[in-house]
Amino acid sequence: MVELRPITEENFEDCISLDVREEQQDFIAENMCSLAEAYVAMTCGPVVPMPYGVYDAEQDNMVGFLMIGYAEEGDEDLPEPFYCIWRIMTDANCQKMGYGTAALQEAIKIVKEMPLGEAKKLCAAYSLDNGRANRLFKNAGFVVGEPNEDNNVLAVLDI
Ligand SMILES: CC(C)(COP(=O)(O)OP(=O)(O)OC[C@H]1O[C@@H](n2cnc3c(N)ncnc32)[C@H](O)[C@@H]1OP(=O)(O)O)[C@@H](O)C(=O)NCCC(=O)NCCS
Repeated sequence: MVELRPITEENFEDCISLDVREEQQDFIAENMCSLAEAYVAMTCGPVVPMPYGVYDAEQDNMVGFLMIGYAEEGDEDLPEPFYCIWRIMTDANCQKMGYGTAALQEAIKIVKEMPLGEAKKLCAAYSLDNGRANRLFKNAGFVVGEPNEDNNVLAVLDI
């Protein structure tokens, strides 16, 4: 069973020690960078971050990282309040075991409770070169938009 547990003083070192596979490095920032971004966003950004460790609850072991964001004002791509999957990663040693899919389902449960405010959409932005991410979001019911000139897409789920 997978649990999302907030990143705290106790577990942030576990979080920054996780890494994706070599060929996935261009698809996601290092977790240390994501946590730094979260800090800056909390003090002055338009998107409120909610960073979580993805845990295998039976083993009490962090296997991944997932960061939800909430944009009360929307942005240029989606001009209405929305939640987003800002980051999702599974450590290279723990991929293809169902953790990413389960973590995304847990995140969907969290946003449906509207913890930071109301919204009708959950979105995720990624490159279509990232076939695994594309399958992950499509399988969870996200509707994938048209790619832009850099082959990036916005995938949107009604919540
Ligand atoms: C995308 C990502 C989070 C998926 O994480 P994951 O934990 O491997 O996800 P899952 O295990 O649920 O599913 C991955 C694949 O393994 C398969 N799988 C799941 N359990 C399996 C099992 N027991 N045996 C064999 N295959 C399995 C799934 O069917 C899926 O296959 P597919 O890619 O062909 O659809 C991971 O690949 C990753 O960290 N990528 C780099 C970061 C990234 O790109 N993030 C997204 C953009 S922010």
